[in-house]
Amino acid sequence: MNALRFPSDFVWGAATSAYQIEGATKEDGRGVSIWDTFAATPGKVRNGDTGDPGADHYHRYEQDLDLMRDLELRSYRFSVAWPRIQPTGKGAPNQKGLDFYRRLVDGLVERGIRPMVTLFHWDLPQALQDEGGWESRETAHRFADYAEIVFGALHVRDWLTINEPKTVVECGYKTGVHAPGVADWDRALVACHHLLLAHGLASRVLHEQYAGRRIGPALNLHPTYPAEDTPEARTAAWHQDGLENRLYLDPIFKGAYPEGILTDRSHIHEGDLAAISEPVDLLAVQYYTPVFVGSDGERVIKHPVRAASWLEDYPDGFHDILVQVKRDYPEVPLVITENGLATDDEPGQDGRVADLDRISYLRGHLAALHRAMKAGVRVEGYHVWSLLDNYEWAEGYAQRFGVVHVDFATQHRTLKDSALWYRDVIKTGEVR
Ligand code: FCB
Repeated sequence: MNALRFPSDFVWGAATSAYQIEGATKEDGRGVSIWDTFAATPGKVRNGDTGDPGADHYHRYEQDLDLMRDLELRSYRFSVAWPRIQPTGKGAPNQKGLDFYRRLVDGLVERGIRPMVTLFHWDLPQALQDEGGWESRETAHRFADYAEIVFGALHVRDWLTINEPKTVVECGYKTGVHAPGVADWDRALVACHHLLLAHGLASRVLHEQYAGRRIGPALNLHPTYPAEDTPEARTAAWHQDGLENRLYLDPIFKGAYPEGILTDRSHIHEGDLAAISEPVDLLAVQYYTPVFVGSDGERVIKHPVRAASWLEDYPDGFHDILVQVKRDYPEVPLVITENGLATDDEPGQDGRVADLDRISYLRGHLAALHRAMKAGVRVEGYHVWSLLDNYEWAEGYAQRFGVVHVDFATQHRTLKDSALWYRDVIKTGEVR
């Protein structure tokens, strides 16, 4: 492959989320989140793993900041744990929680790394869940209050509202494999609406109070294709595209739900869609896998999968979804906020972690991104998922997505070969 040159102002970064790396779930006044509850419920998470110790980042953030500097990252996307800020999801902020994120932001800025903050990466305060969680529209209003606190506390330009509403809807409410573990499609669609409403209300708060800052949603988009050349498969793929992509993009960018998905609209109030379609300043795109569907509407796996069985290595999908977004929606700057691969990495005798599959995945996907940019898609930056090996939700510590290996027993960090490769990409601005 010839070297592919990215624009000199392209922002190279890495991403993490609070519950997956911080650990310290009971410290400094943090409240209980739905993931603490879910993880503690027998049978929900592989090996009964919980968010402790995570990557112990709450205690080791200085070391991790140095690691980011050594990798020459230009941007770091992390999330704030709502239960550290408001232990019960409402009321006065917990100073110690705010202080932690202030120190983190200061440490990034000192090292010349741009912070990008996600307000919600799935760790809802349990007290709000007890009052209905995302099935209650009150939660959307509590989220806007929480966002206002965090906007005021952190001097950060770029903000993301909800991480992957689709995963909350599908895994948290449809199949129940994630917290809060509901398995009911009607309830999932109610939760979906309130997640979108929360996004819109928080975005409005930022726009009203902080000119010059930017906010947007973080959507995991899945290019959806018929797995075979039949009219049934094409219809099924179009329907599936509605569930994967349009259910989130249309309300946000067009102020309307796509046809053929909602059966009940009684939870949608007057003015909700106007709030949900509050203009966005940037769209955070997360891409891992395509979805191919057969004539029966079932997913068909067509490309290689590695440690995570849902993740097909198909770089063209990355190109296709970016082009699709540009074609179908008003243009806003795009930032890639997650892309990566889980592999079974362990240090060899020499201490090296030779994660060649990850390098090949990243190389292929960056080439696809480059192609989309050449085709006119405006993309500002890219964040690899993830900086560190971490708690991969229902898979616990069994799936490693980091470019940095973490030995969870000792918390020792080792740069994998992919981290060294990525550092060269950042340094040269070229993928080879
Ligand atoms: C995304 C999540 C992220 C991580 C990756 C592998 O769906 O946003 O937290 O689990 O998948």
